[in-house]
Amino acid sequence: EKMLLDGEMRNRSEIKVEFEDRGYQFGDGVYEVIRVYNGKLFTSEMHLTRLIESANKISIKIPYTVEEIEAQLKELVAENEIAFGTVYMQFTRGVSPRNHPFPSTDVAPVYVAYTKEVPYNGALKPGAKAITIEDIRWLRCDIKSLNLLGNILAKQKAAETGCFEAIQHRGSTVTEGSSSNISIVVNGELKTHPATNLILNGITRQVMLKICEDLGVAYKEEAFTLEELVVADEVIMTSTTAEITPITEIDGQSIGSGEPGTVTRQIQQAFHAELE
Ligand code: PDD
Repeated sequence: EKMLLDGEMRNRSEIKVEFEDRGYQFGDGVYEVIRVYNGKLFTSEMHLTRLIESANKISIKIPYTVEEIEAQLKELVAENEIAFGTVYMQFTRGVSPRNHPFPSTDVAPVYVAYTKEVPYNGALKPGAKAITIEDIRWLRCDIKSLNLLGNILAKQKAAETGCFEAIQHRGSTVTEGSSSNISIVVNGELKTHPATNLILNGITRQVMLKICEDLGVAYKEEAFTLEELVVADEVIMTSTTAEITPITEIDGQSIGSGEPGTVTRQIQQAFHAELE
C-alpha cells in the first residue's frame, strides 16, 4: 500500500510519526476527506480549495497548488487501485521542539495522504438516529482543523446511546453535526445554518444546495432552533462519508412519519445521479 509523504509516493510501512510534529502535540494542522467513486475523486477541487483556505486561516503555507495536489492524489488512488473509497490528507505546521508560538518559517509543513477502500453499492442511505448536544467547540468551526476534541466527545455520546450522529446546538440555535452538516425541511422548504464561523461549510452541503436549485426545492441559509428541529417534517445530515443521510429519530422521538421524507429522497436520488 502506498501513501504520500510531502508529495512523494512511499510505502505505508515506511511512514512514521515524529513525536514533536505540531500536529501530534497541538493538533496544529488542517485536513480533508475526499470520496472516490469509480476510481475518480469526487468534488476534489472544492475540497482542496477549502484545504488551502483552512491552512491560510491559521497561517500554514501549503507549497502546492490545488492542481498539483489533485494530480498527486489521482496518482495515489491509481497506485492503490481504489475504485470506491476515501482519501484522507493532512498538513501539520511541521516538526520543531515543543513551544506554543509558531516555529521559524524554515520549518516545512508535514503533508501525508492515504487511501481507504469503502464498500459501495449505490443504495440510498436509510434513516439514522441522532441525539442533540450542547456545542462546546471553539468559535472557528469554519476551519477544518485537526483539533477535533469537541467533535469526538459529541460523537462518543451519540455512539454510547446507539445513535449515528450528535446534532450540536449553541443555546437554542442548531449549528451542525459532530462530523456533518444538518438541514431541516418544513413545508417543502429546506433550511440550513449559514456558512459562518460556527460551522464547517461542508462540500456535501454545497452540493445539496445546488441540487435544491436544480430540483426547484426552495432553501434558506438561515439558522434554526432546537424546537424547529424536532418538529421538522424532515431532517437531513450531509457529509463526505455519510453522503445524504435522512435523520428519522432525534432523542428518541420520530421525525415526521419516522421514515425518510420525500424531499430527502429526491435529493438523495439526484446526488447519486451526480456520481454516475
Ligand atoms: N467531516 N461539519 C463537520 C464538523 C465535519 O467534520 C464535516 C466532515 C462536515 C461535512 O463536510 P463535508 O461535506 O465537506 O464532508 C461538517 C469529515 C468527513 C470527517 O471528519 O471525517
